[in-house]
Amino acid sequence: MNITFVGGGNMACALIGGLLQQDYPAGQVQVVEIDSDARARIKQQLGVNAVAALTEGINGSNVIVLAVKPQQLSAVAGQLAPLLNGQLVISIAAGIRTSDLSRWLGDYGGIVRAMPNTPSLIRAGMTGLYALPTVNSQQKEEAANILSAVGSIIWVEQEVLLDAATAVSGSGPAYIFYFIEAMQQAGTELGLTKEQAKLLTLQTFFGATQLASQSDEDVATLRSRVTSKGGTTEQALLSMEQDGVKNAIMRAMHVAYERAQQMGDELGGK
Ligand SMILES: NC(=O)c1ccc[n+]([C@@H]2O[C@H](COP(=O)([O-])OP(=O)(O)OC[C@H]3O[C@@H](n4cnc5c(N)ncnc54)[C@H](OP(=O)(O)O)[C@@H]3O)[C@@H](O)[C@H]2O)c1
Repeated sequence: MNITFVGGGNMACALIGGLLQQDYPAGQVQVVEIDSDARARIKQQLGVNAVAALTEGINGSNVIVLAVKPQQLSAVAGQLAPLLNGQLVISIAAGIRTSDLSRWLGDYGGIVRAMPNTPSLIRAGMTGLYALPTVNSQQKEEAANILSAVGSIIWVEQEVLLDAATAVSGSGPAYIFYFIEAMQQAGTELGLTKEQAKLLTLQTFFGATQLASQSDEDVATLRSRVTSKGGTTEQALLSMEQDGVKNAIMRAMHVAYERAQQMGDELGGK
């Protein structure tokens, strides 16, 4: 399977790096990238072919991954439309709906939309995927294989659920960083050095998420198990409840979901 990435930025390089690490043949991957420095870097660091022109780049390709910025996608799709002859098109551009991309590609049906997140850059990503009904099962498998190179994937049956995935996993790393920031800051206020607070916080996040993912029990049960009557954890959680922390997090995610929908309207109109 020959794959062409259009746009050779951070996300494309992460995906290519992941594929190569899984022994995907470098000769079957190429990149269309307008910036000559970026092309040279891609060739040198990844050992894959990088070209400037779309016409040259998609020759003999079965899958085209659109990895340009959302604002650049309609222009790229306009150039791509007359060159398509049945290839699977995967878009990783945040916020652009398949209906808009399909229209820009001349009512094209072979589209999968992916919503990865930033930990994909270290191959610990989480990607939501949605396929138009006209995409066949082999093409869905191809899309799954490409995005699995940088982490875990889930398929959603309705595209609107990608906006929900955006609110959970797309924006999620920033919520976690925010929580980490608060824990580190409190740690230093309590007398720990910055380094100590950082290690204690990060390892606690790592350990807790590992425990939650390896346990058969739900997180509420795991939480109640570390909350002894009259202990420190109980006091801390009570304080968070009184401050409305859980509700505030949930409200923030609803706001992120609404913003994802607005962005789809704004970006798709262009
Ligand atoms: N980074 C993430 O964690 C993340 C997460 C979820 C989704 N995404 C999505 O992934 C996409 C790529 O993100 P990124 O962070 O990899 O962006 P990026 O680093 O800016 O990469 C995009 C690359 O495409 C190039 N480009 C622009 N127009 C082109 C054209 N017509 N033909 C060929 N190449 C072109 C850009 O060159 P110039 O710089 O010269 O314009 C740039 O090198 C975005 O749509 C983003 O929404 C990213």
